[in-house]
Amino acid sequence: MAAVIVFYSMYNNTKAAAEYLAEKIGAPLVRLQGKGAVNPVKGMMKISANPVGDPWSAVRDADRMILMAPIYAFNGVPEVRGFLKNADLSGKDVLIITNGAAPEEKFSAKVAAQYTELIEKAGGKVSLNLHHIGGEYKQFSGNTHAHQQIDGILSLVQAWLARA
Ligand SMILES: Cc1cc2nc3c(=O)[nH]c(=O)nc-3n(C[C@H](O)[C@H](O)[C@H](O)COP(=O)(O)O)c2cc1C
Repeated sequence: MAAVIVFYSMYNNTKAAAEYLAEKIGAPLVRLQGKGAVNPVKGMMKISANPVGDPWSAVRDADRMILMAPIYAFNGVPEVRGFLKNADLSGKDVLIITNGAAPEEKFSAKVAAQYTELIEKAGGKVSLNLHHIGGEYKQFSGNTHAHQQIDGILSLVQAWLARA
C-alpha cells in the first residue's frame, strides 16, 4: 500500500477535505474518533486520548501516511496524539496537513511540531508539513470550501507522493 490518509474531524471540515483528497490520489482513509466530543482543554494540556477501535492495523502496511487534523485551541487533538503514541511508524514517511480557521504559520507550525515529536518517537519521518483553511468556528463550511482548499495544495501533495 503506497499511502494512507489518517484524519480526525469533529465538525466534518477535515472529513470533507480528507475524502476529497483520498479520491484525488486514490488513497484509503482511516478516521480517528474519540469516545465523545473533542476536548480542546486536553489538547492545550497535551493530554493524549486513545481513539476508539483499531486504526493502527489500517496503517501497518503503508509506506507513507498523510495525517490530516484540525487545530483546536492553538493545539493538536488528544486522539491524534493517542494514535501516534501507540503507533509503530518505523520506516514511514509522513505528510502532516493541518487545518484551522487561521492561515498558515499562525499555529500550524507549532501543532505540526507537536505531532512530529510523537511521529519520530514512533519511528516515522515527517518530510512535509502543509496547512489549509478549515471551517468557521464549530461549523461545517461546506464541501465546496473544503475541495477548494485541497485543490490549493494538491500539486504539493502529488509532488510529495512522486518523490522516490
Ligand atoms: C473549540 C475550537 C477551537 C478552535 N481553535 C482554533 C485555533 O486555535 N486556531 C485555528 O486556526 N482554528 C481553530 N478552530 C477552527 C477549527 O480548526 C476549524 O474549524 C476546523 O476546520 C475544524 O475541523 P473539523 O470540522 O474537521 O472538526 C477552532 C475550532 C473549535 C471548534
